[in-house]
Amino acid sequence: ESEEENFLRSPICCVMGHVDAGKTKLLDCIRGTNVQKGEAGGITQQIGATYLPAENIQERIKELKAADDKHMKVPGLLLIDTPGHEPFTKLRSRGSGLCDIAVLVVDIMDGLKPQTIESLNLLKSRNTEFIVALNKVDRLNGWKPCPNAPIIKAMKQQSQDVKNEFNMRVVQIVTQFKEQGINTKLNVNENKRMRETYSIVPISAKSGEDIPDLLSLMVYWTQKSMTEKLTYSNEVQCTVLEVKYVEGLGTTIDVILVNGVLRRGDQIVVCGNHGTPIVTRIQSLLTPEPMKELRVKGKYQHHSEIRATQAIKITSPQGFEHAIAGTALYVVGPDDDLEEVKEAAMEDMMKSVLVNNNKNGSSSTAGDGGVCAQASTLSSLEAMLEFLKAQEVNIPVRGIGIGPIQKKDVRKASVMLEKKILAFDVKVTPEAQKLADELGVKIFVGDIIHEVIKAYMQNLKEEKE
Ligand code: GTP
Ligand code: NA
Ligand code: MG
Repeated sequence: ESEEENFLRSPICCVMGHVDAGKTKLLDCIRGTNVQKGEAGGITQQIGATYLPAENIQERIKELKAADDKHMKVPGLLLIDTPGHEPFTKLRSRGSGLCDIAVLVVDIMDGLKPQTIESLNLLKSRNTEFIVALNKVDRLNGWKPCPNAPIIKAMKQQSQDVKNEFNMRVVQIVTQFKEQGINTKLNVNENKRMRETYSIVPISAKSGEDIPDLLSLMVYWTQKSMTEKLTYSNEVQCTVLEVKYVEGLGTTIDVILVNGVLRRGDQIVVCGNHGTPIVTRIQSLLTPEPMKELRVKGKYQHHSEIRATQAIKITSPQGFEHAIAGTALYVVGPDDDLEEVKEAAMEDMMKSVLVNNNKNGSSSTAGDGGVCAQASTLSSLEAMLEFLKAQEVNIPVRGIGIGPIQKKDVRKASVMLEKKILAFDVKVTPEAQKLADELGVKIFVGDIIHEVIKAYMQNLKEEKE
């Protein structure tokens, strides 16, 4: 085996937690930036990403004893910032879905809050390991700041009152975690049994206490316990994080390249929200400078190729207006069949929409029954699925589609137990209608969801009579 096949990629670390716990501020403290101050209302509303090269991490942790005896094998860390506000559940899910490890930020003055628990449940459901960053220790009454100092050292500088308050709050928070079924423990030295007991690292994103320890834990723990997962693979694994219009660049996509290499000129396929995949070429591969936030407009570095792991902004000649965040990006290789890649891209997305829908709804008990739901765009489909799930309606969904109803959609419905398509705000092609008549597939179509549902219900009643 050559060394080439065995090196580690950078771990992806997602920063999660309740509103104003200090996620962005923590990243600012690590990067030496001021992103949080520039946010409208101090609220994060998009997923962010920042690459920290190994050199910068090493510089930051050089004072630690751990840094002397250990060798850093990962090339860096890719940090993902997520919004804490309640409505951004989808973004938190997207962010956490990508990561190798998470940092769950908890405000020491507040303890566990609703979005802390929501994040915790997301991490549990995916079996994602995490570190608890117990933030804002500087807010303990009478705290003496000790910038960048390890917490043990900083604690020695504090009065007995501060120490008492600190201990009391830690005990409370450990209890709150226990109530969620999670064992946690102050990370005093190295926490060896990370999987059963999660580490709590007390930090201040304002004055920098224990930030080096947190970084060092992220690096050494991931490279030690996730070697297999972090072993670099040449096969492209890439997810669209955000779809964003940028003045002068058009509609771009921000992606996380987990594995493989992207090159300028590569033919790529991404999901489209009108039911057709976007097939295009990479026009430019852009990254912010290292230690800078991708979501903040700044100077971009241009690359002819980039190897994983990286957060990258991609532009294409026709733009990415209809791209869907959260879906996979495919590179069409010389041996690949474009049609197959296009199908795979759309299928992945459809599957995940359907899985999510059934997971959150009562429809999962449908057995073999269920209708096909089809709408003009992904968002109108999602709205439609919500309507169908409503208690008083409760129509189980078996298949979904986006865009005009074509013969293939009719064929799909024809092999189901209930040969019915509910179509919202889409056209039915004449050939599809003809085929539907032949195969006994009923299509209920309309521009108002309620009316489509009403027509379906009416038909159901007639059938029963
Ligand atoms: P959302 O992205 O909106 O969910 O918030 P966030 O978790 O990113 O928190 P943010 O970084 O916006 O910080 C919220 C507020 O807490 C800001 O006013 C920060 O300056 C402040 N803050 C963050 N960390 C610390 C800290 O360690 N100490 C003190 N004193 N204040 C902090
Ligand atoms: Na905030
Ligand atoms: Mg934030």
